[in-house]
Amino acid sequence: MLRVNDRRKELFENIWPLPDGVSYNCYLVEDDKNVLLDTVESGSDGDFVSHVASVLGDKPLDYLVINHMEPDHSGEFGAIVERYPDIKIVGNSQTRKILENYYPDMAGERFMEVTDGQTLNIGKRTLHFVFTPWVHWPETMMTYVEGDGILFSADAFGTFGVSDANIVEHEGDLASYESEMRRYYTNIVGKYGGMVQKALAKLSGFDIKMICPLHGPAWKSDISELIGLYDQWSKYEPEEGSVLILYASMYNNTARMADSLALRIAERGVKNIKIYDVSKTHLSYLISETFRCKYILLGSCAYNGFMFPMMDFYCSNIKQLNIKQRSLAIFGGHSWNGGGVRMLDKFAEEIGWEKICDSVDVRGMASADKMSAFDDMVDAVADKALGER
Ligand code: FEO
Repeated sequence: MLRVNDRRKELFENIWPLPDGVSYNCYLVEDDKNVLLDTVESGSDGDFVSHVASVLGDKPLDYLVINHMEPDHSGEFGAIVERYPDIKIVGNSQTRKILENYYPDMAGERFMEVTDGQTLNIGKRTLHFVFTPWVHWPETMMTYVEGDGILFSADAFGTFGVSDANIVEHEGDLASYESEMRRYYTNIVGKYGGMVQKALAKLSGFDIKMICPLHGPAWKSDISELIGLYDQWSKYEPEEGSVLILYASMYNNTARMADSLALRIAERGVKNIKIYDVSKTHLSYLISETFRCKYILLGSCAYNGFMFPMMDFYCSNIKQLNIKQRSLAIFGGHSWNGGGVRMLDKFAEEIGWEKICDSVDVRGMASADKMSAFDDMVDAVADKALGER
């Protein structure tokens, strides 16, 4: 593995926060023919080509296999071809189309187009190409090493965060990665759950002993658990009985409603409740939590006759992600004509999630005497979360 741990980058894809950085992995398979699988983001390694050459020594680099074209993995293609001018580039027809627009010189004679299931013998080993489109881009594929049982899985099974261990992580610590792995999956690939399901069905025919993704640790243990997480997330299956309350509030009235709701639902015996202020918590985490939770309670104050801008930002993004099997309750506040709850109701119609009770729109101060307006909402959410309705 040739890994770059990038601790400087603040935002992945210039949008998703990286509190613990991110790693770019690529892999060198040495055999009669030497193969590099993907590269790293341009400039993330001080001198990537020298890094490759220091491992290969005087040996040639025969193939560059492109499992994924996104620039965080294709950034050093040009430098590799310049250093190894006889190299063959391996990819599929979609890879070639994208390559033509990034590195046109590489999409010509040196490009070796492979079909789904095609193999390439490199000596003692045979590479088996498995097309997995839209996990994450249309050209994305995986490469399985027959015999060794190693799956080079492109973006799949990756995570945010740098990797402290050089090759593989210690066995049995998947749980410590799960939250950031879910955030990575849901932010980057989450929209394409159906395609991930197709990819998992294909992979079920392979004896996988090790998974080598393009980000995060390589996995020698927890393989079935890892695949199980992807199966759950790509089916949009939430945690049973989980409640997520997201609110937008200027002067704490809608915030007070959110806290009151959480307290009263918890008093009914629901344990798995989380609250976030959408102005405070980055969309990245809100998306991840929306994948995790079943009952989504959205609250917004009115703003310019509309919902609050940060809640609108959440809603417009969440509509793109095809999340299914969620139930919704809506609340908020206003001072004269409203708009927050009205627009959240419109969002509910557009996204098509089950609405489990009438919306509540409080005028003015969210004082204790007005909280009885939430009685039905508390009962509906608690009953559902506890499996009593
Ligand atoms: Fe890590 Fe889709 O690139």
